[in-house]
Amino acid sequence: EGNDKPPGNNWSFAGPFGKFDRGALQRGLKVYKEVCSNCHGLSFVAFRNLAEAGGPGYSPAQAVAFASEYKIKDGPNDAGDMFERPGRPADYFPSPFPNEQAARAANGGAAPPDLSLITKARSYERGFPWFIFDFFTQYQEQGPDYVAAVLQGFEEKVPEGVTIPEGSYYNKYFPGHAIKMPKPLSDGQVTYDDGSPTTVAQYAKDVTTFLMWTAEPHMEARKRLGFQVFVFLIIFAGLMYFTKKKVWADAH
Ligand code: HEM
Repeated sequence: EGNDKPPGNNWSFAGPFGKFDRGALQRGLKVYKEVCSNCHGLSFVAFRNLAEAGGPGYSPAQAVAFASEYKIKDGPNDAGDMFERPGRPADYFPSPFPNEQAARAANGGAAPPDLSLITKARSYERGFPWFIFDFFTQYQEQGPDYVAAVLQGFEEKVPEGVTIPEGSYYNKYFPGHAIKMPKPLSDGQVTYDDGSPTTVAQYAKDVTTFLMWTAEPHMEARKRLGFQVFVFLIIFAGLMYFTKKKVWADAH
């Protein structure tokens, strides 16, 4: 079948000291809100998360304002009726479809997956035991590289020998090349107010960074703690060395 390998990226969150680029997270949230959320849910993310440390860096007041732009289904109330009310920080992002069947029906039979964990879900393509080697290579970047590639992988010209069924689109990086997601991004589609380029490549990288954060909101704290553990172990090993020397000083 032969799918093209997604190209690598210089992600700010890569490596043991990687951090999320706040600007990219904020722009990516805008891309998700204006484009992806028409079809994809983000059901594990609450509006309050947007104001948590290690995330897009919004204030609690900004999270309140952001949440209030959404209409959330609630109920039943005392009269037994369902109703809609403005979102609150404790609410989760509302999903575009009421259920899987409705999602399929609206998308030619393929339900758009929830994006909360997509950068992780697409990370471990290799089964046991080969994924062990991924720990020593770029395993953490496989998922984001793939998501960014799929968003940029739509091509008008279908290569010879490849047939794309009605209702599917050619994508260079999607396994099998026939995807039921129409090309979601085009240049200039989303406005940015920080002067970043409004190109498909930039949108793809920003929304992927945002989706890496939704999948791993505590990544920065995890990496910080991991580093501290290493420092502690090195100091502790030194102390143990001298302790050992002292304890065994008289042993002949
Ligand atoms: C699939 C991301 C916008 C409809 C996917 C996949 C990703 C993704 C990562 C999974 C590919 C895989 O299974 O490996 C995004 C992002 C978007 C976006 C980041 C915004 C920039 C949209 C829009 C629609 C849509 C606007 C609807 C018009 C679908 C559908 C699938 C899908 C139907 C399932 C495709 C299949 O299994 O054949 N999307 N998407 N997406 N998306 Fe999107």
